[in-house]
Amino acid sequence: EKEKTLAMIKPDGLSLNYTDKIRKVILESGFDIIREMMVRLDAGNVTQFYAEHSKKSFFPNLVVYMTSGPVLIMVLEKPNAISDWRALIGPTDSRKAKVSHPNSIRAMCGLDSAKNCVHGSDSPQSAAREISFFFGDILPGFVKHDE
Ligand code: CMP
Repeated sequence: EKEKTLAMIKPDGLSLNYTDKIRKVILESGFDIIREMMVRLDAGNVTQFYAEHSKKSFFPNLVVYMTSGPVLIMVLEKPNAISDWRALIGPTDSRKAKVSHPNSIRAMCGLDSAKNCVHGSDSPQSAAREISFFFGDILPGFVKHDE
């Protein structure tokens, strides 16, 4: 049974030119990339997407970071996509990832616990919400960036 998850290459991943390397790891790990869109998020988008973190002390920094440049949104599909993608990206703190999960994507391209270069949905509920956030008709008005 195939499953879908939402993956995102965050602004640092794009600006440091990791997109092709990350895409290669995704495909070599057996995921199909079924949707892809480059967008520039504004503060309102970030606040809604990360609503569960909106009261955290790091939230203002998260908004600055996530609005600092375009992000690449992807829908990945394969059996067990949600947990397999989370395993592939590694721990939130990229510095820990470099020690404990050296083959993870965050070990490859993340900088620390804030600038961790990629996102992955953490549950089936999150995946459904996040996929419709970007690809449903719920939130019109993203500015698309064509390369
Ligand atoms: P992610 O786990 O994808 O979603 C929440 C994001 O908040 C996380 O990635 C980081 O980018 C950011 N974040 C989490 N913890 C911290 C922290 N302690 N300081 C700054 N940013 C954080």
